[in-house]
Amino acid sequence: MAEMRDRLLRVIPGGAHTYSRGFDVYPSNAPDVMVRGKGCRAWSADDREFVDLAMALASVGIGYAEEAIDEAAIAQIRNGNTASRPSLVELQAAERFVDLVGPVDMVKFTKNGSTAVTAAIKLARAHTGRIKVARCRQHPFFSYDDWFIGSTALKKGIPDAVIENTLMFDFNDLDSLAALVESNPDEIACVVMEPMTVLSPAGLPTADSGPFPLVCRGDIGPGKRTFLHDVQAFCQAHGIVFVLDEMLTGFRWDLGGAQGMLGLEPDISTFGKAMANGFSVACVAGKREVMEHGSIEFSGRERVFLLSTTHGAEMCGLGAFLETVDFSIEHDVTGALWSIGERLVKLVRSKAAAHGLDQHVLAGGQACRPGIMVLDREGRPCDQLRSLMMQEMIAHGVLFGALNPCYRLDEEAFEVISTALDHALPVIDQGLANGVDGLLQGEPVKPVFRQYN
Ligand SMILES: Cc1ncc(COP(=O)(O)O)c(C=O)c1O
Repeated sequence: MAEMRDRLLRVIPGGAHTYSRGFDVYPSNAPDVMVRGKGCRAWSADDREFVDLAMALASVGIGYAEEAIDEAAIAQIRNGNTASRPSLVELQAAERFVDLVGPVDMVKFTKNGSTAVTAAIKLARAHTGRIKVARCRQHPFFSYDDWFIGSTALKKGIPDAVIENTLMFDFNDLDSLAALVESNPDEIACVVMEPMTVLSPAGLPTADSGPFPLVCRGDIGPGKRTFLHDVQAFCQAHGIVFVLDEMLTGFRWDLGGAQGMLGLEPDISTFGKAMANGFSVACVAGKREVMEHGSIEFSGRERVFLLSTTHGAEMCGLGAFLETVDFSIEHDVTGALWSIGERLVKLVRSKAAAHGLDQHVLAGGQACRPGIMVLDREGRPCDQLRSLMMQEMIAHGVLFGALNPCYRLDEEAFEVISTALDHALPVIDQGLANGVDGLLQGEPVKPVFRQYN
């Protein structure tokens, strides 16, 4: 298999089309090349079968190769897959999306989340006449474009003038945002953040407690005033466009997004990932007054060139999106994701406790897409132990790194995960006691956002 990795690295910079699919973010026993997936399972080129808990960077929410969705995509392929003018499925998808997500009046589709979030920045700049962007420091990724990557450790190739225009505030710290506005008066065009990653927004009390509390569906209701509502109100007061990135929460929390569940009304929001169950569909959407900067029917108005790509509305993806929505409604997919994720977290917690590791292997966060932390003896996140855990889970048939549940995660898969945990956790215990030398084969996994290889 090392041969396939070499072939990848020879012809593709990074050896994959996403850095978080790279060989350096997986342990050495991870499969180098995947061949196919079905439901919650995936098969590698070296003929191994895995229960997939990564689910293609959380872009597949229902399951791989879900028949009704594939058929809907194929039907659009048979219709020609593209057209010389807007297609019928493009109109239907836009109307459906606007109906689904309450605060949204208009939507523009694209193939990747990065282009959607960058389009949101452009709209905010056009709307406010301001340049600077305030992005949440704790949220790991918004776009491959320079405005975002310039605010990470990877600044090479990005002009200083671009880097200077992206500022950072802290999650659950409105003062940090206020300080940015004070030192950059009337210069900040927009605030960009996710509703929640591993940290839940202040003001959202959960039934669970402990160092990594689990947020369940029942914890969330529109009546609760959270940090996100404070940010929204702050933005309104200062003429700043509030951009909510729902790439990961959208189509997992609810079909109306986290914004629907929390009762938020962002000016612009962005969606992608699971919205078409793995087909390439993302979008920027929002209030008419902001989105209309990209419109063409107002004669004499200065134009904003908003997302214009040959394949942005590819028909197979939009057919898959429409069927993903129908399927999700019919099967209450988002409801299932909350409960499947909760069960996963409880499994990890009970196994960790049974192996005496409840202070070191922690699962929690949003139940529909939970997180896992592996901590060292001092209670700090530890890449070496995390790598060891990934290695052992992979060795026992679980493609692991995240805990991304899909609707098709079945009983048999839970059995595989449970057995894999029983094998992996004693090895973590040994690693904690004596270090990972002799246990970890190859290099520990590395973070994507590091300056040097
Ligand atoms: C929150 C968030 N926004 C935007 C993106 C970019 O999406 P894409 O990889 O489709 O360009 C990602 C991808 O991981 C993401 O997690």
